[in-house]
Amino acid sequence: MGVCGYLFLPWKCLVIVSLRLLFLVPTGVPVRSGDATFPKAMDNVTVRQGESATLRLWVRDRVTRVAWLNRSTILYAGNDKWCLDPRVVLLSNTQTQYSIEIQNVDVYDEGPYTCSVQTDNHPKTSRVHLIVQVSPKIVEISSDISINEGNNISLTCIATGRPEPTVTWR
Ligand SMILES: *[C@@H]1O[C@H](CO)[C@@H](O)[C@H](O)[C@H]1NC(C)=O
Ligand SMILES: *[C@@H]1O[C@H](CO)[C@@H](O)[C@H](O)[C@H]1NC(C)=O
Ligand SMILES: *[C@@H]1O[C@H](CO)[C@@H](O)[C@H](O)[C@H]1NC(C)=O
Repeated sequence: MGVCGYLFLPWKCLVIVSLRLLFLVPTGVPVRSGDATFPKAMDNVTVRQGESATLRLWVRDRVTRVAWLNRSTILYAGNDKWCLDPRVVLLSNTQTQYSIEIQNVDVYDEGPYTCSVQTDNHPKTSRVHLIVQVSPKIVEISSDISINEGNNISLTCIATGRPEPTVTWR
């Protein structure tokens, strides 16, 4: 009887742990606002090229390890900086918040960033997408032109930007 009780308990714990991992941390699914699970990262971040982006994570007590990653590269783990990029700085590492800042954001910084947290020996992750916008700019436009009535004419206007701008003629 004693053996049964001894075997039963860890098995039950294991099942509960597996279920918690299964239901609370669907890996790769972005955490939405209103989601009650922790860690909780902010929603997707949209910044303009040249601005600073803040990646914020709200944590609870019992968190033993925290890190922010750019794809699979660790940027910060706790107070330690792992990347060489001088634009990446630690903003706060407190009991409730773990945030980093990316300064002078450029288009190649766009993509998924992941925060990884260890609570009670359970690793959890949540993901946020950094979206970089670039102001629309006209790079090429037809010059003034005179033509005879009845002739066809093509006018060109090429613009760049993110998201891709729509060009209209009046
Ligand atoms: C994130 O990763 C991309 C792809 O490796 C890289 O081009 C970019 O500089 C990185 N940005 C930061 C802030 O680490
Ligand atoms: C965040 O951005 C990614 C990629 O653009 C998108 O798939 C995802 O739905 C976005 N999540 C939220 C919460 O807006
Ligand atoms: C002008 O374009 C129309 C449509 O493409 C064509 O049918 C017509 O022949 C063209 N006119 C001239 C003068 O090139």
